[in-house]
Amino acid sequence: MYLENLLADAHKVLEKNWKDGFTIPTHNLYPFQWNWDSGFICLGHQYKDLGRAIQELNALFSGQWENGLLPHIIFHSENEKTYFPNFDFWESNVNPGAPHRPKSSGITQPAVHGFILENLWRNHPEDENFKAFIKEIFSKIVHYHRFLYQYRDPQQEGLMCIFHPWESGRDNSPLWDESLNRIHIKAGELPHYQRRDTSIADPSERPTSDQYDRYVYLLLLGKKYQYDGKEIMAESPFLVQDDMMNAILIKSNQSLINIGKQFGFDVGEIEEWQQQSLRSFREKCWNAELQMYTAFDLRGGKQICEKEIGGLIPIFAGIPEMEQASLLNEYLNNLHNRRYYLCPSFDVDSPKYDSKRYWRGPIWPHMNWMIYHGLEQYGFQETANIVKLDTLKLVNSLGFYEYFEPQKEKAEQLKTGYGGDVFSWTASSIIDFFHKE
Ligand code: GLC
Repeated sequence: MYLENLLADAHKVLEKNWKDGFTIPTHNLYPFQWNWDSGFICLGHQYKDLGRAIQELNALFSGQWENGLLPHIIFHSENEKTYFPNFDFWESNVNPGAPHRPKSSGITQPAVHGFILENLWRNHPEDENFKAFIKEIFSKIVHYHRFLYQYRDPQQEGLMCIFHPWESGRDNSPLWDESLNRIHIKAGELPHYQRRDTSIADPSERPTSDQYDRYVYLLLLGKKYQYDGKEIMAESPFLVQDDMMNAILIKSNQSLINIGKQFGFDVGEIEEWQQQSLRSFREKCWNAELQMYTAFDLRGGKQICEKEIGGLIPIFAGIPEMEQASLLNEYLNNLHNRRYYLCPSFDVDSPKYDSKRYWRGPIWPHMNWMIYHGLEQYGFQETANIVKLDTLKLVNSLGFYEYFEPQKEKAEQLKTGYGGDVFSWTASSIIDFFHKE
């Protein structure tokens, strides 16, 4: 492997996608600022220019709503016409607390910003600018978490829920199929719309059109109730406590507590959330039969029993007991022994597995970054190293793509990865892996 080149190339990707104040995930396919992408992108910026990481987060939080919502897309430009659903379809200003500019979507994404902030701070503990930035951004992140607990936890259990698959960051995972199938769209019920993604990327690597109609249906349901109305929780056919999003929230809570204690901020409220969240998560999300964590379908009143990448992320948040962590480690080792690159995003033995299609099978580098750190924290260094090496190998041989083929024999026949190319969080994950040698 030409690792030196790989690092330099990774920096070039971030440079190319830098838009004077924030970074797009990739050209064409995603031409705006995405919420959790930006968090991971900061990991890459911090080594060349910490100032860019600060700008990135400031640009993202410039889109925060008065109620605390941090939208999943911030439309810094209103002239970019190649994306659907664009700002004019979302109409964020149906909610009076949404900023007039920048426009945004009306849903959110995983709350990575707390742990990203801690990562940057631990790598630059003496940087005075960064300390000043922490003092500014801290309360905004807390406000965002408060939104999740106030507006998205209808049973007040300490577990937030989502009403749209896009919020999970794993848009078309088979996890959402059953909930989406509850949606029956009558002829003429949806306005006419035109997808853009399938004319930019290979349609066989993208969600199907049936799925897309349902995404649009849920978007419109949110809009009808200004994206934060209680009616959404009451009416949405899709209402899920996602294990990955809750694990990430718990991880970020812990980071905010760590930072807050050092800086002398009041962390009482966060500690209360954290206690309740941890208790409920452990009670509600572990599935002993699958030996993995699962999401909970709040509308259906049951766990979503599938082995899927989100079920591994609790290890990153320090949630499992050692015994459970060992089972997760074993799951990955089995896959490795069966000649899969780590970590496929869905159960390779399920009929729903599709190695090419987005979140139904392929490998995602930023997910590997979290899993690597989780395994390391629990002392599973060997598996952690496999995860890291597999990520480096795939990107090195196939390019800075969005996602990758998990089956080794198949991947070796390929010349590229899947989805978008020149992809920012792929580059950031690689950069950070290099710096943790
Ligand atoms: C896709 C992914 C989502 C990501 C976005 C931009 O929608 O599923 O997780 O944030 O692309 O990269």
